[in-house]
Amino acid sequence: MNPVTEYPSGRKERQILLLQQMRALLEGETFAISHMANAASLLWHALPAVNWVGFYLRQGDDLLLGPFMGKPACLRIPFGKGVCGTAAAGKKVLRVADVHAFPGHIACDSASRSEIVIPLLESGETAAVLDIDSPVSNRFDEEDEEFLTEFARLVEKGCDLSAFR
Ligand code: SME
Repeated sequence: MNPVTEYPSGRKERQILLLQQMRALLEGETFAISHMANAASLLWHALPAVNWVGFYLRQGDDLLLGPFMGKPACLRIPFGKGVCGTAAAGKKVLRVADVHAFPGHIACDSASRSEIVIPLLESGETAAVLDIDSPVSNRFDEEDEEFLTEFARLVEKGCDLSAFR
């Protein structure tokens, strides 16, 4: 599979293509690290105005850095801390329009202004999170949240997440 590197400029068209590509990439394997690496790469190359796309993986009460695109990031985030840890603990999507206004935000890349974090669940518990940062304030709206949630659900279903507990 060789995903196109030119994406449609229309948001909806781009989202449909990304979902198709992710579905195709997930076929025939369940190893989570490989799939997360491809998922991060797909989003990184397709989404405008993002400076970090990646996954954190659960290890007990912490999240550990997983496959990502962007600058090196902090390795370990305790559940309940930062945007990622808060989303992981609450098992809910967190969309933060202004990271500087989020108490306890962990700044891995000082360019980040807004962020969205989507938990991936295994047997009802957070096993990983998909984290996307943008250098633009209020970058992610409700439509982005819907799309990224659908994208994350695909990855969640296609991956064996049983190691991340
Ligand atoms: N900002 C995140 C930390 C991870 S980086 O953005 C890659 C947080 O507050 O949890």
